[in-house]
Amino acid sequence: MKRFLKFIVAISLTASTLFAASSEASFPADWKSFSKMNTPLASIGALPGCDADVSSLPAIYQETVAMYCAVKPGGPGAVAILANDVASFKARSGTYKDGTFYILHLKDLKVLFVTEWKGNKPLYGIWTEDGQDAANVVGSGLNPADCRACHTGYAAFCLNGQCATVTK
Ligand code: HEC
Repeated sequence: MKRFLKFIVAISLTASTLFAASSEASFPADWKSFSKMNTPLASIGALPGCDADVSSLPAIYQETVAMYCAVKPGGPGAVAILANDVASFKARSGTYKDGTFYILHLKDLKVLFVTEWKGNKPLYGIWTEDGQDAANVVGSGLNPADCRACHTGYAAFCLNGQCATVTK
């Protein structure tokens, strides 16, 4: 019996390691004090629903809308772009100090898409505003692997994890 229990525990531990999703970027507890950045998406102000005509936007923006437009009727809604290092966001140098955090704030959904740099490598995280890990399975759009696929897949657009360029 004891052996059997051990076996069950081993199986469920394996299952949770295989299927659990978690954020790579840590939760920036001080996110409310970050600065708002002006970017193309911030000036649009919201991620629209699936029936919006986004054909005039660059392909990466079209793909972003396609990936997230169905999360709720009318789309994800209001967004803001936040940074804890304004100079670095504006410079877009491709080199980021440890502890640099950028956020795509999905205001209506109360979710933070977080990029944090460590060792000059971008890490991705999905957090609720109050710090619960909201990462989900690969392919859901809410897994660090999904973030990375887009943020590094558009090499001409995103530089070492940073996609937006400030508009002013
Ligand atoms: C299909 C493409 C795509 C996916 C998937 C995607 N992003 Fe982005 N992301 C973008 C684009 C394009 C921008 C620039 C928007 C703008 O104009 O501000 C952006 C902006 C950001 C920003 C603001 C800083 C920057 O890089 O410009 C953060 C932070 C961010 N994304 C994090 C994430 C996280 C975390 C995920 C995964 C949960 C994710 N993104 C998934 C395309 C994507």
